[in-house]
Amino acid sequence: MTASEIRALFAVASRPEVVSLAGGSPYTAALPLDAVGEMLGKLVLDRGAVALNYSSGQGDPTLREQICEVMSLVGVAATADDVVVTVGSQQALDLVSRVLLDPGDVVLAESPSYVGALGSFASAEAVVRHVAMDSDGLIPEALREELEACRAAGQRVKFLYTIPNYQNPAGVSLSEQRREQVLEIAAEYDLLIVEDDPYALLGFESEPARALRARDAERVIYLGSFSKTFAPGMRVGWAVAPHGVREKLVLASEAQILCPPTFNQLAVSTYLSTQPWKEQVKVFRELYRERRDAMIAALTPRRCRPGSRGRTRTVGSSCGSSCRTVSTRKPCKPAR
Ligand SMILES: Cc1ncc(COP(=O)(O)O)c(C=O)c1O
Repeated sequence: MTASEIRALFAVASRPEVVSLAGGSPYTAALPLDAVGEMLGKLVLDRGAVALNYSSGQGDPTLREQICEVMSLVGVAATADDVVVTVGSQQALDLVSRVLLDPGDVVLAESPSYVGALGSFASAEAVVRHVAMDSDGLIPEALREELEACRAAGQRVKFLYTIPNYQNPAGVSLSEQRREQVLEIAAEYDLLIVEDDPYALLGFESEPARALRARDAERVIYLGSFSKTFAPGMRVGWAVAPHGVREKLVLASEAQILCPPTFNQLAVSTYLSTQPWKEQVKVFRELYRERRDAMIAALTPRRCRPGSRGRTRTVGSSCGSSCRTVSTRKPCKPAR
C-alpha cells in the first residue's frame, strides 16, 4: 500500500488523547440512538426482504424524492429522476472523476482543498491547480487568472471543484456576491462546476446559503451527503447532474457497486420520514457551536478574551468533535 493522507488522518484522529480538527467527523453519540435502534429493528421486521436485497443502481426512488426535499432547503429544484444515490459523497467524487477526467486534465480547486477529493482526482491522473481563497471564499480574480494561465498553456480545464459552505479544511464560505461572480466566470469560460456541499445545513450564524446549483442547473453538478446531518456510517450521499452526465454516473456506479446499499438507503429514508431530523440538525448545530466557543476560549490568549482587545473572529462551521475556525484578522500575540 502506498501512503494515504486519509488513512493517516483517521489514524491520528482515532487516538483518544487527540482532539482532531482535521476531519469532519460528526458527534454521532448525540443522535437519539435508542430511537434509531428501534427504527432499524422495525425496518428489518417490516421490510427486511426488500431492505436486504439488491435494488436500483440509481438509488431508491422514495429516498431520491426525499433528497429533493432536503436540497430545496438550499434552493435546489430537482426531481427524483435527477438524483443518483451514492455511497457517501466520496463515491460521487470518484464517479465524477471517472466519468469526466482523462489523464492530464486540469481540475481547479480551492487552496487548500478536501483531501478525499484530491485523492479521487489523483486516481484519475488529473492535474489539480489551486485557486486562492480568503475569508469570503474562492477569489474570483484568482479563478480568472488560473483559467487564463491554463488557456495560455493549452491545458484543458475539466471543472472547478468547490466546497462553498464551511469549506473543508479552511472553514470559510463563499460570499453571496462571489457566488454570482464565480458563476459569471464559469459561463464566460464554459466551465463546469462540481459543488460539494455536505455542510450546508450546519451553519452557526446564518440560514443556509443558496447553492450554486440553484442558480445554474446546467453548469453545476451538486454533491450532497447524509454523513453530517445524520450518520457517516450509513455511507449515503448523492449527486445531481445535468442529464447526460447523470446517465454516465449511474452506469459507472452500476459497474462499480451494482447498487448503493439498499438497507442503508431505506434506513436513511425511514429516518427522514419518522424521526425529527431537522430538530436533530439543530441539536448538532448547538452542540458544535458550544464546542467551537469552548475551543476558541481555550486557544485565545487571555489578553484577547472578551473585554480585552481581542482580534480573532471565527466564521467557520464545525462538525462533530472537530471544529474548523478561521481567523480573519491578525492573530493576537501569545500572552506572556
Ligand atoms: C468536503 C467533503 N466532501 C466529501 C466528504 C465525504 O463525505 P461522505 O461521508 O459523504 O463520503 C467529506 C467528508 O468529510 C467532506 O468534508
